[in-house]
Amino acid sequence: MDRYVVFGNPIGHSKSPAIHRLFAEQTGQELDYSARLAPLEDFAGNAREFFLQGHGANVTLPFKEDAYRLCDVLTPRAERAGAVNMLTKQADGTLRGDNTDGTGLVRDLTINAGLNLEGKRILLLGAGGAVRGVIESLLEQKPVSLVVANRTVDKAELLAQIFADMGPIAASGFDWLEEPVDVIINATSASLAGDLPPISASLIQPGVTVCYDMMYGKEPTPFCLWAEEHGAALALDGFGMLVEQAAVAFAYWRGVQPDSAPVLAQLREEIAKG
Ligand code: ATR
Repeated sequence: MDRYVVFGNPIGHSKSPAIHRLFAEQTGQELDYSARLAPLEDFAGNAREFFLQGHGANVTLPFKEDAYRLCDVLTPRAERAGAVNMLTKQADGTLRGDNTDGTGLVRDLTINAGLNLEGKRILLLGAGGAVRGVIESLLEQKPVSLVVANRTVDKAELLAQIFADMGPIAASGFDWLEEPVDVIINATSASLAGDLPPISASLIQPGVTVCYDMMYGKEPTPFCLWAEEHGAALALDGFGMLVEQAAVAFAYWRGVQPDSAPVLAQLREEIAKG
């Protein structure tokens, strides 16, 4: 049976094995997908050992940049993102790296939430690996502007330079922003500590602005609560993005496209129960 894993540290609460198991059941595929705790100091050694037998892997925090460095072949989008969330052992034994986070996010926003991003003003909070992985996909949707705002402004400026040829991208500090936007995406790790990025509530146009937190949990994230409090049209968490990026990986590995909607609904119910 083909073997797959998700690498992370920590990894105990990962939903990826459950997502892939449900996709496999739904499409009649036989595969073995489990969570694998890689040591912080030796992701590469752990991954190489897995790929002596393994077929494919997803990669989560904090290894997406280590995974990028490990690959023999990179897709153009992974190359540009500088981060890999999906590894595949190819027939010739080489390791291929891709980044499906951006596609996952855009599918969640456009298909699941039904948004059209064309002509929209998008604000992306953060400038770490999570942001690098989604900029290209967001620009492909042809927003009128994509502003990357970060606590350390230099990092946002670097990203704006790297992606400048792909669309209307600009960098900013948090406290320079006041005018309302159409979509705000939180990709900072502030939520992990129960914090909010320090942005003005005037960025939300009540009933219009859609807020999206790449994090998710049993309870609404601080960013989603903040969005609701200030009248956002929608406050969405990142669970849909996780399921959608998994669907992209599953389709690539197995050659069959799973239907993500029932999987998303079933697992959301399980998360809510805790
Ligand atoms: P990831 O791969 O999840 O993006 P990362 O590369 O460590 O993780 O990036 C974390 C991001 O969250 C950064 O943009 C970081 O801001 P800095 O670049 O200024 O460090 C941001 N971040 C973390 N904690 C934050 C907080 N409390 N408020 C605002 N931004 C925060």
